[in-house]
Amino acid sequence: MKSNKSTAAIHGRKDKAYRGANYPIFTSTTFAVDKSDDYDKFISDQEEFYIYSRYSNPTVRNVEEKIAALENAEDAVLFSSGMAAITSAILAFAKKGDTIVALRRLYGMAYRFLRDIVPNFGIDVRFVDEAELYEAHKSSPHARLYYFETPINPTTDCISIERTVKSGRKAGALTIMDNTFASPINQNPIDFGVDVVVHSATKYIGGHSDIMAGAVASSKELVRSVRESLKAFGGCINPIDAYMLDRSLKTLKVRVDQQNRSAQRLAEFFMRQKKVSRVYYPGIPSQRSYKVAKRQMTGFGGMLCVELSDLNAAKVFCDNLEVGLNATSLGGVETLVSIPVLTSHIKMSPEELKSAHVSEGMVRISVGLEDTDDLIHDFRNALTKI
Ligand SMILES: Cc1ncc(COP(=O)(O)O)c(C=O)c1O
Repeated sequence: MKSNKSTAAIHGRKDKAYRGANYPIFTSTTFAVDKSDDYDKFISDQEEFYIYSRYSNPTVRNVEEKIAALENAEDAVLFSSGMAAITSAILAFAKKGDTIVALRRLYGMAYRFLRDIVPNFGIDVRFVDEAELYEAHKSSPHARLYYFETPINPTTDCISIERTVKSGRKAGALTIMDNTFASPINQNPIDFGVDVVVHSATKYIGGHSDIMAGAVASSKELVRSVRESLKAFGGCINPIDAYMLDRSLKTLKVRVDQQNRSAQRLAEFFMRQKKVSRVYYPGIPSQRSYKVAKRQMTGFGGMLCVELSDLNAAKVFCDNLEVGLNATSLGGVETLVSIPVLTSHIKMSPEELKSAHVSEGMVRISVGLEDTDDLIHDFRNALTKI
């Protein structure tokens, strides 16, 4: 039976030994064989044969299976951080002489990895804007990979997954998409033809600002290649953190559903405020992204962005919050605000900021699970201090 998301996130592997409601934590780094000939099972790639936890571990595997189910993927592999997942996935598929087409507007560190490190491997990276992405098969007809994210950090502008996949297929490229901002509850890129989905599980999947983790979901065959990359680069997750993720997954749907509702109300509140010159949220029908978001998302997410007059106004606003925390990251139960030019988009040139559509007066908001009225009160009060 194919389960719905809340069920798939709760009921994973069963503890057959003691029938516990929770699947246990296997802290072992190594697993003994009964007989030396048993190593043949490892050599023949039997999935359930564990020998060393950098390769695979039962507690980790339980979570990988749940994430695969949530992303409508055949399989998934966990990592120690979102960046470990992203870098291992890209380097699993691109090799010397290949071209990667990458959206220019990306999470800052993914952008810097593609700009500063990937070319050292003899791989050509071509950064494109949204319109160029949909036509990139014409200018890069032999691209090996397309890399993009939607909604985009920090403005939550949405890229058409269908149009990107269409262009990628014409080029014969694999598409890799970062689905962190939406979470698997609000968007499933594989349903629209994306080949590989990456997540910073540090964000919504972990959800409590206490676990660093990453995930890659895809077909069995492509996940096998990414796992080879994991084995070599070594970005494996600790089984205790994997257990924490398992616990978090059980409430992922209720958390994200509430964050969607609260973010929608907050976006509508900010739209009515004179000191806010612009609100970015895909759930506002007058926004450019609304149509695209409506087609590919089942919820509009817990992330929004507001534009104030300048950097000083943004600082005053953030420094006067009593409930929201002025902190980077996102997706947790606590509402976080951050100024992109001081955090995710630091050290970018004025031209790079312009093409990322990031201004100095922007404040990104990750809506948590506090009472929405309390958040509105807190934001209204902070606006009066500007
Ligand atoms: C959209 C997005 N992708 C990837 C990452 C990287 O994830 P991690 O910090 O878990 O390495 C982040 C981190 O902020 C992010 O916002």
